[in-house]
Amino acid sequence: MVNSRSFPQLRNSTTRSKFLLPKPTPFSITLYFSILICFSILLFFFSTRQIPETEPKLLPSNESQEEQLRDQELLGAGNVGFHPCVKPTSRYKEAQESNRYITVRSNGGLNQMRTGICDMVAVARIMNATLVIPQLDKKSFWRDTSKFSDIFDELHFITALQKDVRIVKELPKDLESVPRARKHFTSWSGLSYYEEMKHLWEDFQVINVVKSDSRLANNGLPLDIQRLRCRALYHALHFSPPIESLGKKMVERLRSREGKYIALHLRYEKDMLAFTGCTYGLTDAEAEELRLMRENTNHWKVKNINSTEQRNEGFCPLTPKEVGIFLQALGYPPSTLVYIAAGGIYGGETRFSELRTYFPKLVFKESVATLEELKMFANHASQTAALDYIVSVESDLFVSSYSGNMARAVEGHRRFLGHRKTITPDRKRLVDVFDKIERGELQEGLLSSIVKQLHKNRQGGPRKREGPLFGIKGRGRFKTEESFYENPYPECICRSKKRVDAP
Ligand SMILES: *[C@@H]1O[C@H](CO)[C@@H](O)[C@H](O)[C@H]1NC(C)=O
Ligand SMILES: *[C@@H]1O[C@H](CO)[C@@H](O)[C@H](O)[C@H]1NC(C)=O
Ligand SMILES: *[C@@H]1O[C@H](CO)[C@@H](O)[C@H](O)[C@H]1NC(C)=O
Repeated sequence: MVNSRSFPQLRNSTTRSKFLLPKPTPFSITLYFSILICFSILLFFFSTRQIPETEPKLLPSNESQEEQLRDQELLGAGNVGFHPCVKPTSRYKEAQESNRYITVRSNGGLNQMRTGICDMVAVARIMNATLVIPQLDKKSFWRDTSKFSDIFDELHFITALQKDVRIVKELPKDLESVPRARKHFTSWSGLSYYEEMKHLWEDFQVINVVKSDSRLANNGLPLDIQRLRCRALYHALHFSPPIESLGKKMVERLRSREGKYIALHLRYEKDMLAFTGCTYGLTDAEAEELRLMRENTNHWKVKNINSTEQRNEGFCPLTPKEVGIFLQALGYPPSTLVYIAAGGIYGGETRFSELRTYFPKLVFKESVATLEELKMFANHASQTAALDYIVSVESDLFVSSYSGNMARAVEGHRRFLGHRKTITPDRKRLVDVFDKIERGELQEGLLSSIVKQLHKNRQGGPRKREGPLFGIKGRGRFKTEESFYENPYPECICRSKKRVDAP
């Protein structure tokens, strides 16, 4: 189009140049240049006319390039330039035999127990004690009767940590009947607290720890203790061989389907909704059922909850529908394979179909493993949760609808293994955006760019663990810290001296 206009100019200048050729004046030089420029324009015209012929050839390769770029961005490899570092320092001494014992009752769900157990390894080290294989919680909401060795590889746990802490399967027979110090250790305690607790050894040979969750501070501990926590969680506390083996198979099957997959921890289970008091999008009958469950669960202290306020503060898990809108806004196409890493979804298929509208390729444990394979884990919530954990850690993207223990543990593990992509929804801001669109205060077309902007720095990239919230005093500040196992940087993740290429 531009070229057709330049033609008349070209003709004019060539005719004029005939007259002026013999005398090379500044004017004629200008004309020569004009001719040259016109010639280039002509050349350009012909060359651009040729492009359409080669375009069909270029297009597919460009498209796949773009697709690859998009894949890299959406389901990308982790960050290079960092590596796990868990080796003890040169000051670290091997564990000695100790005839003082710590027994532990681990409480909570699978991941609360896992992190609690690793904290107890560190506590036993600080207190110079032998650790007896912990007893697992059988009374929590999940009512799982599994023993330690049903979920974890007990022998590996013992041998992997033999230089750090002596661990035994059982208390020696002669100590079974001696009086024990029954201890409720103070939450988030530091080194000096446990050094002081050593005085208990003057009167007792066995300390029985009645709760293992959050007993150890996130920050301010010696480097060797922090690294011990990482060795315990990531190197020693493996799942039992049957769980590891099926977990691996499930990952392979997912990969053979689409190559890449998202693991979505859709924490939309009954206990979570009842505990948080979140009833957004539920029927009155469902809301009432949840209220009754909260009323009747003694250890949940808060009974009267305003669901609207909870949601506005970002304290509610995203609903399946909200997750669908969220992932779509981030640019994930409907063809994305999504593995649901969760137990039962409250409201069942009805609520579930709201997510399937956005992502039809939803799969569960039951669609990746056979009933026969799952049979031995059925009715053991912690064992099936372990399968979800493995599939989540290995996924190309991990997303959670709520920042619970599982989400935090998986996030930390993925950071440790090389900052594998992990998107943490900013629920408070998202709810605000969703509500604005519902009220017609925001154009729907802006959703994607706003959501992308809000989550640019929430993708599991390298950063130091966050300290307590500003302005909170006293012990309450420990609660506001980012958990050690959610982000073991900088203690257990180090910057590589040389940049290493992605595997
Ligand atoms: C293909 O990609 C190259 C750069 O990678 C770009 O210069 C070229 O214009 C693209 N071609 C088409 C037809 O999009
Ligand atoms: C650990 O305890 C044993 C006795 O059980 C003792 O011999 C040893 O010196 C103690 N080590 C430290 C570092 O306190
Ligand atoms: C819950 O909180 C919202 C917002 O603060 C308020 O509008 C609503 O009336 C409250 N509901 C109840 C039942 O108190």
